[in-house]
Amino acid sequence: MTQGRASGKVILFGEHAVVYGRPAIAVPVTDVQATARVEAAAPGSGILIHAPDIGQTIDVATAPADEPLSFTVRRTLARLGRAWQDLDLSLTLVSSIPVASGLGSGAAVATAIVRALTAHLGCPLDKKEVSSIVYETEKIFHGTPSGIDNTVIAFEQPVYFVKGRLIEPFAVRRPFWIAIADTGLPSLTRESVADVRAAWQRDRQAYEAIFDRVGAVADAARAAIEEGRIAALGALMAENQRLLRRLDVSLPELERLIEAAQRAGAQGAKLSGGGRGGNMIALIEPQQADAVRAALQAAGAKRVIVTEVGK
Ligand code: MEV
Repeated sequence: MTQGRASGKVILFGEHAVVYGRPAIAVPVTDVQATARVEAAAPGSGILIHAPDIGQTIDVATAPADEPLSFTVRRTLARLGRAWQDLDLSLTLVSSIPVASGLGSGAAVATAIVRALTAHLGCPLDKKEVSSIVYETEKIFHGTPSGIDNTVIAFEQPVYFVKGRLIEPFAVRRPFWIAIADTGLPSLTRESVADVRAAWQRDRQAYEAIFDRVGAVADAARAAIEEGRIAALGALMAENQRLLRRLDVSLPELERLIEAAQRAGAQGAKLSGGGRGGNMIALIEPQQADAVRAALQAAGAKRVIVTEVGK
């Protein structure tokens, strides 16, 4: 039996604008994980993927071409020069990453599959190759992904990401704390990305100007993180959230959590990921964690994770 694991992620700055070539910053969230377990199966049984969390078993031989999990298996095997028809395997997937919440569940499950399969077959791939296989799966999940989710999850490190460029080394000079709170409403990235695209097509000039400002915020945040000026991040989060509102990807439920975190003392807060539901993040001091967590729960958060970035 062989296991592959992958962490979740959060986008700290730059979601949506990153699809249009602006920079964004994302970090792994190791508090939530996806695991894939691979075992040899009886001869003739083919490759079966068991996903007990969602009550599904998928047969790689009969799954539709755009079913993301079997697609990931086929793609990985093709990269290794192995034919899926020749293998009898059982793959079991377990994940503590909430689905459709902006924490990268789809990319993490796919990454865990690639890692488990390649380890089981004795041909581990480097991070770049894992990321590029998972990017193909992301296209099925999300339509036109920027590639930030597969990158931060496959590389397992904070990333400053610009679509189409190699990831740039990015150091967190002084670790800092964030609270991540889930509205419990599904964040359908494919839809929010498609809606932003439709709005951009109607008024390119206005949207390009918003994307430029989001990119400038991400650049300023990178400099602040690299120089250990954590206090500067709060205002940058607030500015990023103002711009995300203009992209129409926030919701009253997200705004309620953002306001609650700020009232409880957070230095800044914003939605994270595709928006229209899913998670928000708040910059906090560790001693504020209990108060912020309680305030977020009272404001309707279904789940709160407090985590240290750059530890
Ligand atoms: C999704 O985690 C982040 C978005 O910017 C989409 C993408 O980058 O592919 C909304």
